[in-house]
Amino acid sequence: MTSVFVAGATGMLGREVVRSLVRRGAEVRALVRTGSTASQALTDDGANVIEGSLSVRLATAMEGADVVISALQGGDDVIVDGQVALLRAAEKAGVPRVIPSDFAVDLFRLDDGDNVFLDHRRRAHEAFGGSPVRITSVLNGAFAEVMTASFLEIVDWDNGTFSYWGDGEQPCDFTTVADTAAYTAAVALDPESAGRPVRLAGDVLTMKAFHAALERGSGRRLEPRQLGSVDDLAGEIRRRKSIASSPTEYVALQYVWAMVSGKAKLAPLDNDRYPEIRPTTVTEFAERFRR
Ligand SMILES: NC(=O)c1ccc[n+]([C@@H]2O[C@H](COP(=O)([O-])OP(=O)(O)OC[C@H]3O[C@@H](n4cnc5c(N)ncnc54)[C@H](OP(=O)(O)O)[C@@H]3O)[C@@H](O)[C@H]2O)c1
Repeated sequence: MTSVFVAGATGMLGREVVRSLVRRGAEVRALVRTGSTASQALTDDGANVIEGSLSVRLATAMEGADVVISALQGGDDVIVDGQVALLRAAEKAGVPRVIPSDFAVDLFRLDDGDNVFLDHRRRAHEAFGGSPVRITSVLNGAFAEVMTASFLEIVDWDNGTFSYWGDGEQPCDFTTVADTAAYTAAVALDPESAGRPVRLAGDVLTMKAFHAALERGSGRRLEPRQLGSVDDLAGEIRRRKSIASSPTEYVALQYVWAMVSGKAKLAPLDNDRYPEIRPTTVTEFAERFRR
């Protein structure tokens, strides 16, 4: 039985990853912070819960594991320092493979400054260099859940609008959280994925097709509004950045820019490697917004 150690198991993605791994018959060790209120729920999901931190006795907790998955989220202290601590513990425990918390557009095609959160992830990969542990990034494009949330400033369900930057013709990658988790579990149980990024997308749509799929699935009209060109979006990001007190005030637009500019498009896709997973289309996903 494959044994998988999951850090960030209490998070939006991590919880689904745990469930997907259990469904696939893996032995799951879920790391939660000491005193976490989520321990019982993860136990009920079938995980062996380990209470601890990213700094104390991690290697002991990882002993005998085949793979470590990180679904951590946070600033550079978590994404760089925390994940390097995970990697060092994996090395010490002899765990051969780690899946870091990448789960994004193709961050390896971006330059420093394009996206502050993805910069941290590339920094972590630089620190992983030279390790005997083989790293597998799971790249999924954007979560459909996030792309339809108000903070992305694309879909406004209350006012019935769909706002987009660019000409709306650039293909973009969309995957639900549950499908990303299902793919991550499949990748974790696939030793041949070791040492390279795996690119997976539930649906590939231009912004215009994304708009049409949301209308079709939800049965709701969303008035399209073109906000400006891709360069105008870059200018808006610069403007917000110049007055921001925190990256959270502009990073959402940096993700959108990475998509609509085409710079971080996933290609080629590896979906065919996991034919047992039939991912949710955006049209199917949007049915949850029916009134
Ligand atoms: N592609 C996309 O559209 C998209 C969208 C959103 C997220 N993501 C990615 O998905 C991954 C997971 O994100 P998420 O939204 O699921 O994150 P989340 O819900 O915020 O969960 C973060 C997890 O990290 C844990 N954590 C944070 N700091 C920690 C620390 N110092 N020590 C131990 N545990 C710590 C949290 O534990 P507690 O519960 O104890 O705080 C939680 O389990 C990230 O790589 C994120 O960038 C991708």
